[in-house]
Amino acid sequence: MADFDFFDPDFQKNTQENFQRMQRECPFAHTNKPFDWYAVTREKDVAELLKDWDLWTSNSGPGLAHQGGGVLVSVDPPEHIFDRRLINKAFSPAQLLSMEDEIVALIDELIDRFADQGEGDLVPLFTMPIPLIVIARLLGLDEELVTQMRPLADAVIHPHTPPGKIERQTEDTPQTRYFQSMMDERRALHADGKELPNDVLTTLITSELDGRTLTDEEVMGFMGFLFIAGSQTTTQLIGNLIYRLLENPDQLALLLKDWSLLPNAVEESLRFDAPVNGLFRTNTRDVEYQGVNLPKDTKVICMFGAANVDPEFWGEDAGEFNITRPAQLTKRHYAFGKGIHYCMGAPLARMEARVAIKAIFSRLPNLRLTGEPKEIAAHVMHGVDSLPVAWDTKG
Ligand code: HEM
Repeated sequence: MADFDFFDPDFQKNTQENFQRMQRECPFAHTNKPFDWYAVTREKDVAELLKDWDLWTSNSGPGLAHQGGGVLVSVDPPEHIFDRRLINKAFSPAQLLSMEDEIVALIDELIDRFADQGEGDLVPLFTMPIPLIVIARLLGLDEELVTQMRPLADAVIHPHTPPGKIERQTEDTPQTRYFQSMMDERRALHADGKELPNDVLTTLITSELDGRTLTDEEVMGFMGFLFIAGSQTTTQLIGNLIYRLLENPDQLALLLKDWSLLPNAVEESLRFDAPVNGLFRTNTRDVEYQGVNLPKDTKVICMFGAANVDPEFWGEDAGEFNITRPAQLTKRHYAFGKGIHYCMGAPLARMEARVAIKAIFSRLPNLRLTGEPKEIAAHVMHGVDSLPVAWDTKG
């Protein structure tokens, strides 16, 4: 069995090549950094593993750190079915898409703020604030405070965090105090029969499913998870796509000539540069897997990014970025996971990306890279942490 170094900067820089090399040389690989864990990289293995949720549980969380007692991505059925029904009440795909006009306006305002600068780093200026503001509006949170809370989301996805070291959403931190004060305020309004804002927080507090309502701790768990799930991931999607288009002028030219390719470009970005490299499952009993004895509670990562470039599934050109692939085919990618935990924010993320890409390339003429982008440090994610660019201005 071959070892791999997920934390090697080269691994992140050329994930597609590295994933394909792993598929050829050792599709079930091992690393001991910072302790033993394994990776499946072939599309068919990732698909099978995700289906068998009874053996490969999510109950210890989707990260490398063991984290029980969560919601949605951190539970199996039957709790998981309850959680999804609840979140479906809070936002249906139709509700998410109804935010489009608001998002178009928000993105336009953001560009107004820096369009005259002529140069800058698109991560802090553009790709980071968009999903943060959108998720704040969706959840009913204060936009300023949410921006300050971003380091919390980063800490949770950082793979060096050893098991058990992640702060639970219920611990006493400025964030949890803020969530708690929001909940108290809403619950008081509700008790007084006052009209409540139409957002996810209200739905979580007022919904009754199967005769039960959520405790404060559960509401906090949902809010915390949605905040993390909806922010950093979408930032990576938008940044990755801008970067790939700037790096491949022929592909950008195709898009600028024919904007009907935009959904294809978003889908191809999700396939080629999956914002989440992979997520973990944990075996519920001792098992022999691909000839290796794995004791109960072994961590195995399903490499979505690898499944997305597996030549056996996609064909020999899987390692090429090509926005003319039909979106209907590209949509089979694993960027949003697969099976029972399939991402509930996928329609929103896709829409944010479409609006952002159209706006940035339409409004900033001759947008170009001025330096090498920096890869994000949290290795479970794949994307850029800084994207230095310049563009032409009238003055
Ligand atoms: C490009 C952006 C995004 C990417 C790449 C992404 C990726 C993922 C992935 C890979 C999963 C599966 C987790 C697993 O199998 O363990 C997932 C689940 C989920 N995502 Fe997303 N996500 C994105 C945006 C969003 C947004 C914007 C929201 C909410 C507003 C969201 C909400 C969720 C929820 C609720 C789940 C849990 C589903 C479940 O466990 O049943 N995501 N996401």
